Amino acid sequence: MTPTPLIELAEVEENDAKGVTIRDGAKVRKFIVLRWGGETLVYRNRCPHAGTPLDWVPDRFFDRRKQHLFCTSHGASFEPETGLCVDGPCLGDSLEKCAFEVLDGVVVLKEAI
Ligand code: FES
Repeated sequence: MTPTPLIELAEVEENDAKGVTIRDGAKVRKFIVLRWGGETLVYRNRCPHAGTPLDWVPDRFFDRRKQHLFCTSHGASFEPETGLCVDGPCLGDSLEKCAFEVLDGVVVLKEAI
């Protein structure tokens, strides 16, 4: 498996998130790279409700109070640190967490896309 670089970690501000789209031929995968509470996390950018990306506006992943990741399609809210849906139509479901490592300042996906 070839590691998949997603983004330079320095491009993601603390307590914010960036969307990354990886294309491999016809295969398209979207990710959320998040820095939150001193940690870095990577989720698939796919809402567990209907499978759409969370960000209707690119890179706008948070609700107004900047407490939860927010899906603009039907209003699901997710805990940033766990990906758990705490409000909305997929209550109790979670965003898919992705294994990654940071190599030379680059967030690299450990799994095949
Ligand atoms: S697709 Fe996210 S809340 Fe419906």
